[in-house]
Amino acid sequence: MVTYDFSGQVAFVTGAAHGQGRSHAQHYATHGADVVVTDIGHNVDTVPYDLGTLDELDETASMVEDEGQAALAIEMDVREEAEVQAAVEEALDEFGRIDMLANNAGYWPPSDVVEMDEAMWNDVIDTLLKGVWLPSKHVGKHFIERGDGGKIVSTSSTAGLVGVPGFGHYVAGKHGVIGLTKTLALEMAEYDVNVNAVCPTGVDTPGIEGLLESYGEEVFEEIGALSGPLNVIEPGELIEARDISEAYMWLSSDAARYVTGIALPVDAGATAK
Ligand SMILES: NC(=O)c1ccc[n+]([C@@H]2O[C@H](COP(=O)([O-])OP(=O)(O)OC[C@H]3O[C@@H](n4cnc5c(N)ncnc54)[C@H](O)[C@@H]3O)[C@@H](O)[C@H]2O)c1
Repeated sequence: MVTYDFSGQVAFVTGAAHGQGRSHAQHYATHGADVVVTDIGHNVDTVPYDLGTLDELDETASMVEDEGQAALAIEMDVREEAEVQAAVEEALDEFGRIDMLANNAGYWPPSDVVEMDEAMWNDVIDTLLKGVWLPSKHVGKHFIERGDGGKIVSTSSTAGLVGVPGFGHYVAGKHGVIGLTKTLALEMAEYDVNVNAVCPTGVDTPGIEGLLESYGEEVFEEIGALSGPLNVIEPGELIEARDISEAYMWLSSDAARYVTGIALPVDAGATAK
């Protein structure tokens, strides 16, 4: 594992109750950062599998503390501006600063475009797009006011780079994350804030497991939505959350100080074809 020095810094992670967000929180702590872990903490009607719980969020906070770092767990829905603003204020009251923002929260209830109902469209688009915009807005304001730079990393997907049948809302949202990332990178450059996105292929997380249990693995292999079948390295396998965390750590570090506005595939070659 590459080592970074985030001592004295604070990371703010969305969707941190389990899956990739939990892994990112642990990695920030391993490299010396204190971590604010946030999550919606309950299920959403349009999503056919379990989201993270508040107990799981507390477990993530304990994992950060096990690394010798301070943690603050906050229930926060990335779709709700009042909740995001309050969480950022609580984090600043507790730690006095935020240095790294990890926009990770997301979900993917499948539906063909012509079958999709409006509630599902709105939930997915709001979580993927408002869910990146709102934390970036409120943490970004803090970065500008503090005048000491900052890092924003957001999770797009291979579905942010190519179309995926059965996931039109998700594909639109994840493409949108890349557009927002590029624009924010341009707007924030003068404040020394780097803004980047990561595009994972299929990752082994509670979310993907829940989706497979709800719909059956064969459905996803048929439409290629799981991305695993498209991978060039170890075709058919899911990669691990830590593979995405490693990209997050690099993009959150000064090793990537001249990297901004990119969408970095961590996709085992899936989008090279
Ligand atoms: N797992 C994959 O195969 C895969 C591939 C590419 C991209 N992604 C993206 O990676 C990110 C993390 O996914 P994961 O696989 O860890 O999923 P996951 O379902 O295991 O974890 C997602 C977490 O986000 C939280 N969350 C969902 N909606 C929220 C909201 N509105 N507000 C706050 N928290 C919310 C959930 O409660 C959960 O704890 C997502 O953005 C996802 O779209 C996942």
